[in-house]
Amino acid sequence: MKLGILGDIHGNIEALKAVCETAVLQKVDKLYHLGDVGGYAPFVNEVVDFLVEHKIEGVQGNYDEAVGNNKEHCGCRYENPLQEEMAALAFEWTKKHASGKSKEYMRSLPFEIAFSCHGRTVKIFHATPLKNNLYWHQDRKDKFFLEMADKAKAGILIYGHTHIPYRRDVDGKVFINAGSVGKPKDGDTRACLTLVECLPEGVKTDFIRAPYDLERVASAIGESGLPVYFAERVREGK
Ligand SMILES: [Fe+2]
Repeated sequence: MKLGILGDIHGNIEALKAVCETAVLQKVDKLYHLGDVGGYAPFVNEVVDFLVEHKIEGVQGNYDEAVGNNKEHCGCRYENPLQEEMAALAFEWTKKHASGKSKEYMRSLPFEIAFSCHGRTVKIFHATPLKNNLYWHQDRKDKFFLEMADKAKAGILIYGHTHIPYRRDVDGKVFINAGSVGKPKDGDTRACLTLVECLPEGVKTDFIRAPYDLERVASAIGESGLPVYFAERVREGK
């Protein structure tokens, strides 16, 4: 079975449509999203409607938990005061503009999805098996990876949150960060679609990048009242 994984969409409907079109071309059997459906771009309600309409299952991100429950803070971490200020504005904007239906959808998302594949347990979650806002980058020690596999009780772990895709294999366990559909931070502006194929002989992974109409999203950010700071980030892939 070929899975298509959609990491952090963050209100970017154009990027979401682009990866879904790519998934059809790639003959993906099933799509999952990794949460954080709103924030930073203005199409939070369109993204939720699209996911519901296309029956794309997914898990709850820290942003979904915070917006869905009208929390004070999104649980994000910031690298500098400007980023913190801009992110706070985007968070307030999203809480104000997400519909009741969208918030209900965010609240209803499960923390994780689990299934088995050729005798191995696959777990899908937003950031880590226990916390939805911890940044799990590729350069963490092997010990951390194995602890997470232990907590998840899984051999194949799929997650996002950092917006930077990678795969690492540690002691036969497979760790896949699916990057981000709507707000990549690896310098590549294209939306990321992560393919995961579980086969009897092993797991195949492919990170496919789908171009989309960046300028439409960038100008919509500017017109929506969201900080233009995020239009610049979309143009830079940062
Ligand atoms: Fe995110």
